[in-house]
Amino acid sequence: MEKTRGIKRNFGLIGRNIHYSFSRGYFREKFRRLGLQGHDYSNYDLADIAEFPALTRENPDLSGLNVTIPYKEAVIPYLEALDPVATAIGAVNTIKFTPEGLIGFNTDAYGFQQALLPLLKPNHIQALILGTGGASKAVAYVLRKQEISYCYVSRKPQGDQLAYQDLTPSIMKEYTLLINCTPLGTWPDVDAKPAVPYDLMSPKHLLFDLIYNPEKTAFLSEGEKRGTVISNGLKMLESQAEKAWEIWNS
Ligand SMILES: NC(=O)c1ccc[n+]([C@@H]2O[C@H](COP(=O)([O-])OP(=O)(O)OC[C@H]3O[C@@H](n4cnc5c(N)ncnc54)[C@H](OP(=O)(O)O)[C@@H]3O)[C@@H](O)[C@H]2O)c1
Repeated sequence: MEKTRGIKRNFGLIGRNIHYSFSRGYFREKFRRLGLQGHDYSNYDLADIAEFPALTRENPDLSGLNVTIPYKEAVIPYLEALDPVATAIGAVNTIKFTPEGLIGFNTDAYGFQQALLPLLKPNHIQALILGTGGASKAVAYVLRKQEISYCYVSRKPQGDQLAYQDLTPSIMKEYTLLINCTPLGTWPDVDAKPAVPYDLMSPKHLLFDLIYNPEKTAFLSEGEKRGTVISNGLKMLESQAEKAWEIWNS
């Protein structure tokens, strides 16, 4: 990190309605702690991804960006290249500015893997992924790498996806890892939760929620009442941010 001390470098987050941004506070605090005085991190709220080229033109000090909802896929045509993980997932949450152009990475997968692996037990060999949006693709990528078979659960199931009504006692017995990739339960809608049969959960189940605010969602509370192991998305969030920092400095 010594070599970057004293240099002016700007970073930021692109997304829509991102005033809540975890990343800005996280990176500004990190820069303060590391004494990186020329470093800053800003939010760039874009009404449309077509504003992206102007943003990069008007901010020549940018060294890296994070990308959030709804642009993780929409930003790809504006990039020079993708790393193999982002290519496999089809979504980008980190951009590195290089002399060769903008390179897209996906560190959500790394973050999820770091958070999930310490919690896995030998019985967690089949998973239900709740929701089919951008984050669910990074989750599925990690499960494939870990050789955990999975099934998507969707409000509008397609192909071999399940509907919430399809979660029978035998499916709930077999699939002991449940990952909430929907926004249900995010503050301030803290009572909302995915429509899974909570009464069929047992201490063999591991419930992972990508949400980190609140710390314990209604989904996790319902599981905890039945003795399941629970985890929120905070460690995933911090790990994906650290990986982005590593990429920007490599
Ligand atoms: N902790 C972290 O580091 C981290 C990283 C990335 C994302 N996240 C969080 O993960 C969540 C999902 O992110 P995302 O980017 O995948 O969002 P997204 O693209 O908007 O997708 C969310 C999916 O959830 C389902 N869904 C949406 N509204 C729903 C509702 N009212 N009821 C039931 N299902 C609903 C939908 O799937 P169906 O239409 O198929 O039902 C949708 O595709 C967000 O809360 C986000 O903040 C956390």
